[in-house]
Parts: sequence; C-alpha cells; structure tokens
Amino acid sequence: MQGFSLPRSSTLFIVSYVFASSLTTKMSGRMSSNGNRSMINTTILHDLYEKHSQSPYYDNLSRPVSDLLPPFIVAGIRGVTSNPAIFEKAITSSNAYNEQLRNLLESGKDLESAYWEMVVKDIQDACKLLEPIYNESNGLDGYVSVEVSPKLANNTKGTTEAAKLLHKKVGFPNVYIKIPATKDSIPSIKEVISHGISVNVTLIFCLSQYEAVIDAYLDGLEASEMDDLSKISSAAAFYISRVDVTVDKKLEQIGTSEALDLRGKAAVAQAVLAYQLYRKKFRGPRWERLEKRGAKKQRLMWASTNVKNEAYPDTLYVDSLIGPDTISTIPPQALAAFMEHGSLSRSIDSNVSEAEGVYNEIERLGIDWNCVGSELEHIVLDSFTKCFDNVLHSLKAKHSHLISI
Ligand SMILES: *[C@@H]1O[C@H](CO)[C@@H](O)[C@H](O)[C@H]1NC(C)=O
Ligand SMILES: *[C@@H]1O[C@H](CO)[C@@H](O)[C@H](O)[C@H]1NC(C)=O
Ligand SMILES: *[C@@H]1O[C@H](CO)[C@@H](O)[C@H](O)[C@H]1NC(C)=O
Ligand SMILES: *[C@@H]1O[C@H](CO)[C@@H](O)[C@H](O)[C@H]1NC(C)=O
Ligand SMILES: *[C@@H]1O[C@H](CO)[C@@H](O)[C@H](O)[C@H]1NC(C)=O
Ligand SMILES: *[C@@H]1O[C@H](CO)[C@@H](O)[C@H](O)[C@H]1NC(C)=O
Ligand SMILES: *[C@@H]1O[C@H](CO)[C@@H](O)[C@H](O)[C@H]1NC(C)=O
Repeated sequence: MQGFSLPRSSTLFIVSYVFASSLTTKMSGRMSSNGNRSMINTTILHDLYEKHSQSPYYDNLSRPVSDLLPPFIVAGIRGVTSNPAIFEKAITSSNAYNEQLRNLLESGKDLESAYWEMVVKDIQDACKLLEPIYNESNGLDGYVSVEVSPKLANNTKGTTEAAKLLHKKVGFPNVYIKIPATKDSIPSIKEVISHGISVNVTLIFCLSQYEAVIDAYLDGLEASEMDDLSKISSAAAFYISRVDVTVDKKLEQIGTSEALDLRGKAAVAQAVLAYQLYRKKFRGPRWERLEKRGAKKQRLMWASTNVKNEAYPDTLYVDSLIGPDTISTIPPQALAAFMEHGSLSRSIDSNVSEAEGVYNEIERLGIDWNCVGSELEHIVLDSFTKCFDNVLHSLKAKHSHLISI
C-alpha cells in the first residue's frame, strides 16, 4: 500500500541508515543507570517507547528474515507486520524463496497453499526474533502480524476458520492474526478472541467502526471461558494517511477558503478523537470486571503513516500521534524520516478541543465521516485483494521460470 514504489536506492539507504546508526554517532550513547560503563546505544525509537510508552512497529518483512530484521530490532523496533503487497515485493525481488517454492510445488501443493507455507515460514522466523521482546514485556510487544485472505472479508465463518488455522500453523504466542474491521468480519473478532487468539484488527477508518471493534473485543473477552485472560492481546489499527487523501479531495471540491484551510488536518483530528474513545471505553465497571480476570486493553495503533502529500512534513503522522499505550506502525519511508528528524513529544492529547473543532467543522461542511470510512474500506480491500491475486500470479510466473532453467 504505502511506499512500495520506493526506488531501490532509498530502500538501501534506509536499511543501511538504520544499520549504520546502530554503530555510529546518529545514536546518542547512554550510560545504563546502574553506572555500568558499557554503552547502550539508543535511538529516537527507544526514546519513543521509554519516554512516551508508544511502541514503534515496522511495516516490512523479507527474507532472509534473520539477516534483515535484527538491525531494526537493535534500532528499537518492537514488532513487525507483513501483508500480501509486502510479500509480493519480497518474493519477486529476491531469490531467497526459490528453493522452498520449487519444493512445495514439486511435492504437489497448489499455488495458494505454497503461498501460505512460505508466509508462515517468514512469520515464524520473525516471531522467533521478537520472542525476547515478547517475554521481557510480558506479552505487551514483540508481535508479528499476518492476515487472513482478504477474499474472506465478507465471510464471517470463513474468516474465523482461517484465523484459527493460521494461528495454529504459526504456533507462536506472539503472532497477531489480522482481521479486517468489515461488517462481516467484526463478528469473527469476538469469536476468535474468545478462543484465546490474539488479533490485530485492521482497516479501521472511522470512529463508529472503531467503537464496534472495541465492543467486539470486549464481547470476545466476556465470552471466553479462559480463567486467565492475560494471554489474549489485541491491537486496533486505525488508518491515517488515506483519510487525509480522501477528505482533502472532498475539501477541494467544496473549494471555499475555510474548506481549503482544513486540508491535511482530518486524519490527525480523527485519530486524536479515537484516542479519547479508547480512554473512555477502557474504564468503568465493564472493563474493570475484565481487568480482574487479567484482560489487557486493546491498544490503539496508527497504521499507514507514510505521508502521501508532498506539501506536508514527512513525519506529520508520526510526530502528531505520540501518546502512551499506543503503537505507531512506521513504514520504511516514514521510519527513515522520523529517525532523521522526528520530533518527540506527547502530542496525541495536547489539544483535544482543537481536534474536535476540526472534526465538527468537516462534518458541518457536509462531509460524512462514516461514508469516508466505507469508501476507504472498499478501496483498500480492493487493493489488498488485487495484491493477493498478484502474489499468486507472481509465484506462478516465478515457478515457470524456475522449471525452465
Ligand atoms: C523491505 O525490506 C526489503 C529487504 O530489506 C527491501 O528490499 C524492500 O525494499 C523494503 N521495502 C521498502 C518499501 O522499503
Ligand atoms: C554503541 O556505539 C559505539 C560506537 O558509537 C560502539 O563502539 C558500541 O559497540 C555500541 N554498543 C552497542 C551495545 O551496540
Ligand atoms: C554491564 O552491562 C553489560 C551489557 O548489558 C552486561 O553484560 C554486564 O554484565 C554488565 N556489568 C555489570 C558489572 O553490571
Ligand atoms: C520465552 O518464554 C517462554 C515461556 O517461559 C520460554 O519457553 C521461551 O524459551 C522464552 N523465549 C525466549 C527467547 O526467551
Ligand atoms: C463475498 O464476495 C464475493 C465476491 O464479491 C462473492 O463471490 C462471495 O460469494 C461473497 N461471500 C459471501 C459469504 O457473501
Ligand atoms: C496490524 O496491522 C496493520 C495493518 O497491516 C499494521 O500496519 C500493523 O503494524 C499491525 N500491528 C501490529 C501490532 O502488528
Ligand atoms: C488549542 O487549539 C485551539 C484552537 O486552535 C486554540 O485556540 C488553543 O489556544 C489551543 N490550546 C492549547 C493549550 O494549545
């Protein structure tokens, strides 16, 4: 989705940047507090977590996982995600999948099963590397996300079954199964959570949809027969940059100066209000009953934080959404920018009334937030489905090429 068209050179720059910074002056060397003189090198990502309780996650995964992922973990990344677009890029631009692909297809697997086997292998490798963070943080962080097929988004039962199967196949406690927040998938969130499977709910674009997601999580916890709910974890991925792309377009159609002044403000304003909703839903008697059984809050997570409009600062969606008990998923482009010149201060609730003003003003101009949400849901789901088909297509092409040589 975001940033996949980065030229190779900038990708190399990012990777070598992070790598180099773990060794050079880009990091501020810091003494550990017990006077131990061995230096612990920290980056802005460590500070984000330690000073602001926001966990940085990275949106990219590629083989060889055991070579490519560790530099990011050293630099402070606390979790990682993959999706069909990322996977497609990975298999087409690397030879590291050839042998497994050939073996799988020769052993009679069909393309889609081969796809899942390869994905599961990468996810397991990443889970292994992040397990120390998962253990140290008591299951707060260290997650690796993998999604069920986007083709199941309108199929409640199919999504539930696929989530259970994927969870079992990966077999690590620190895997998040991604389930989209569509009308038909939300009921499966409840079901899957009640079975003790940790879920990353994706494709959340508006507040009403977000509230339904929180309720599904709470319903799932309540329905669970587990005595100890502390092993169940969930995150809710609220999408950022695409909201601005869509709302800005509508503001430009309206064209008045007050409409034009609101460009570039919608996504952050809505996210600020989402955080308020999170605070509100995870307190009070209903929540306290669950908390007594060990339940963890479903953390709010910012997704799609690459800035798509060049007129805006490239760290806008990372800098503006810093606050405790959240996750910021940072794709490669935004990560490089944030590490280079990000600014670090609690921003998510520094001016809630301003965000309310922006949100209400946009509504007053006739833009319906729920419609923006469903419009985006269709666009993104559509693009995920295409990516999924493309991956299978790329695998097929790759296999034909492999057997012809
Ligand atoms: C993701 O990581 C791989 C391996 O380092 C790299 O080749 C790819 O370009 C990265 N993707 C992006 C968008 O930077
Ligand atoms: C921290 O960086 C210094 C150089 O700036 C390097 O010598 C040292 O090995 C690094 N420490 C760790 C723990 O990576
Ligand atoms: C100092 O820290 C290093 C690295 O964290 C550790 O290996 C070492 O045992 C520590 N030494 C003391 C005296 O605490
Ligand atoms: C994490 O904890 C589990 C359960 O205690 C243990 O089996 C596993 O070896 C630990 N993993 C790491 C990397 O420490
Ligand atoms: C989901 O949508 C697809 C394509 O639009 C359709 O073929 C399929 O029957 C639908 N599945 C369900 C369970 O509604
Ligand atoms: C959840 O999924 C979103 C969307 O793919 C991703 O950006 C995010 O990193 C994932 N979150 C976690 C905690 O893995
Ligand atoms: C919050 O934003 C409003 C509207 O933009 C502004 O009038 C007010 O001064 C801001 N408050 C703080 C504390 O920054």
